[in-house]
Amino acid sequence: MLQSKLNAAIGNVQHWKQEQSTLTFYTDIAIVRVRLWQLGAWQVQVTQQHEFNDFTYAIDQPFEDGSFELEQVNELLLLKTKEGTLEINLKPFRVRLLNTSGNPLVEEDPAFGSSWIGQQVFHYRKLQPNEKFIGLGEKTERLNRAGRAYTNWNTDHFGYKDGSDPLYASIPFFMGVHSNGAYGIFYDNSHKSEFNFGASNNRFSFYTAYDGELNYYLFTGENPLAITQKYTALTGRTQMPPRWSLGLQQCRYSYYPEAEVRMVAQNYRSRQIPADVIYLDIHYMDGFKVFTWHPSRFPDPKKLMADLAEQGFKVVTIMDPGIKVEDSYHAYQSGIGEGIFVNYPDGTPWTAMVWPGWCHFPDFTSEKGRAWWAHNLKAVIDAGIAGFWTDMNEPASWGQHTPPLIEFNQDGHKASFNEAHNVYGMQMARATYDGNLKHQPSKRPFVLSRAGYAGIQRYAALWTGDNQATNDHMLLGVRMLSSLGMSGVAFAGMDVGGFEGEVNPPTYARWVSVGTFSPMFRIHTMINNRDTEPWALGETTETIARNYINLRYRLLSYLYSCFYQNATDGTPIQRSLALEYAHEEDIYDVKFENQFFFGPHLMVSPVAAYKEFTKVYFPGEGSDNFYYNLWTDEPYLSGSTEIVESPLHLLPVFAKPGAIIPLHKSIQHTSEDPGVELELHIYHSEDTTNFTWYYDAGEGFGYKSGEYALREIELTAESLSISPKDGSYEVPFKWVKIMFHGFENIKALLVNGKEATLQPEKFTWLAGLPNFDPLGPDLPVPYVDVVTTQFEFLNDAIQLNWQLEE
Ligand code: NOJ
Repeated sequence: MLQSKLNAAIGNVQHWKQEQSTLTFYTDIAIVRVRLWQLGAWQVQVTQQHEFNDFTYAIDQPFEDGSFELEQVNELLLLKTKEGTLEINLKPFRVRLLNTSGNPLVEEDPAFGSSWIGQQVFHYRKLQPNEKFIGLGEKTERLNRAGRAYTNWNTDHFGYKDGSDPLYASIPFFMGVHSNGAYGIFYDNSHKSEFNFGASNNRFSFYTAYDGELNYYLFTGENPLAITQKYTALTGRTQMPPRWSLGLQQCRYSYYPEAEVRMVAQNYRSRQIPADVIYLDIHYMDGFKVFTWHPSRFPDPKKLMADLAEQGFKVVTIMDPGIKVEDSYHAYQSGIGEGIFVNYPDGTPWTAMVWPGWCHFPDFTSEKGRAWWAHNLKAVIDAGIAGFWTDMNEPASWGQHTPPLIEFNQDGHKASFNEAHNVYGMQMARATYDGNLKHQPSKRPFVLSRAGYAGIQRYAALWTGDNQATNDHMLLGVRMLSSLGMSGVAFAGMDVGGFEGEVNPPTYARWVSVGTFSPMFRIHTMINNRDTEPWALGETTETIARNYINLRYRLLSYLYSCFYQNATDGTPIQRSLALEYAHEEDIYDVKFENQFFFGPHLMVSPVAAYKEFTKVYFPGEGSDNFYYNLWTDEPYLSGSTEIVESPLHLLPVFAKPGAIIPLHKSIQHTSEDPGVELELHIYHSEDTTNFTWYYDAGEGFGYKSGEYALREIELTAESLSISPKDGSYEVPFKWVKIMFHGFENIKALLVNGKEATLQPEKFTWLAGLPNFDPLGPDLPVPYVDVVTTQFEFLNDAIQLNWQLEE
């Protein structure tokens, strides 16, 4: 053990050595390991122990050496790569990351750097002029986190507010942006930690963990998007989800008995509102005990699931970690018998109270605990349950004061509660994911988790917990989803309609419109609240909801392609404007910070239900390109700010310059045939734009052995090319119909070298809105004038050329 001192600073380097791309420094009181990962991240690991702790749940791949050139200039080591230089000062030990022009991206505070107070480790970074901070996963407040501080400690926070912290998931990764560029830092330490982004001081931003190593990864990239991509190369990406999980999901706390579930399903189908998933919250269980069914409410789960499957519905059930202490309960008996519960140091199980009463909790950080859980899932899967909702896994218990002395296996690296707490939920999701793969290896798992840590995206989607039924919460939820996306969790959603409190019809209608453009789209509400199915809040609300849900289903192949992109390179589905336009000041403005891109080509400007007009910022300063109002085709210049109408039935949504948006017909659920025609909506731009269109069976793993269809689409002002089909999957679409938007006077159109004709057409994205209330407002749905051409969707390359009249 090296001598540790109170208020100890890391001190000077006494000596150092290099082995391949790993440098080890021995300072007055610590050992530091600096190494470059091939994927493009510097790892700096600082310990006061003799050995580094390499155990982590976050990292998804083994270390591979990256290459750099090392140069020493007196007391400075310069570690140079194509992307910049890591500068290490030896006396005292300090790290600076420089961009390719030699300007600092991030640097330790010259006086403080890394230091300790007792076991608590600190890392101080100098604030750069006008530095912005984005990310940190599931956090409330502003897009730019400068001047604020946050805690990472997974917490059950019912009805949280904007400003509440911490919440359910902890992702210790953020990005900094300033005039020298962008960088990212991931602090891999699961202990409670705090991130201070210059709150209450103007000198430094800092990180502190209450125990454990200072172990961080530094990333650079041309913009935050490139940094998110690298971060997800390190911590893993969400694999292709089952397509049904991208459809509408309907939940409430709780649907029971089974007749109510059937009624919900029936209503969706008879009202022609598309939906794929119905959730069963805790009342499906017998006495809230996991792995049981309530005997009178759900007497024959298999039959119910089979009947719902016939109507095209999948069922997802909630799973809470607490196992009731009850001698006659099979999960309790086998849990005790196999010794899988979290124990006190004297070997007796920790007991805390949740829904079923006093409970023990499986140790999901042990292989044995996860295997036990996975084994028990079999019966639920056999009943026909398609997905799992792992709730209360912070872990939550009444009173919220878990005795810190309970112990966790942590896969052979025994851990205190302080260390295991933040990873517990992620390991529960992992056990659930693994159990699904084990019992139905040909199905893609769908797990929705409340708690999580960095890397949770490999196992589960996240939702933002118990929000409130207000406009402010809808907008807060949007920011949280954008933040989750840039922090690696692309598959995320919020309780559409709000969990706590009674939603009013306009807020609900707007929320469904916004939810249409969320990666996960789930309606949910609290026990004893009024119903919040789309038909429960009046005719106008129902029609607006139906219109947007239909649009979600028409956009499915676009959305699915975005999930493919995410699985491939970590690009989020919902993208804050900061990912690609980080240096445009306006995007951080309180008026514009909620705006986001839905996939590469749509921009959404979410706005409170009561606002009939809103200000929108169109990023891309200095370009001559136009965004197009999706509903009207009205153009708006990049870099401008405009006032846009936002009546309740028209959420402001825009096609980006050069947008390529595939649509198919609306279907009632994702296993229905989407028809033979794919519409490709293309929007004019002076620049070249691209879209990777991806399709496969939507289920199973055939895609991993080539059963997919991938087309690279490239658009210029006067051409469109579609690459030959890659992959062996036969798509249902036999025809493509191109819909031109914003192209003035197209002439001489050639499709694969042959003259083709153009048809004028009136097109609308949303169905009409009848005026139910004779005294109510008139809400016409606009049509746009487009020209179209149609051709066979051949597997070979397709090339369109045209000219535009000056
Ligand atoms: C807490 C969850 O956050 C909420 O979504 C759920 O409905 C309740 N637990 C009841 O299970």
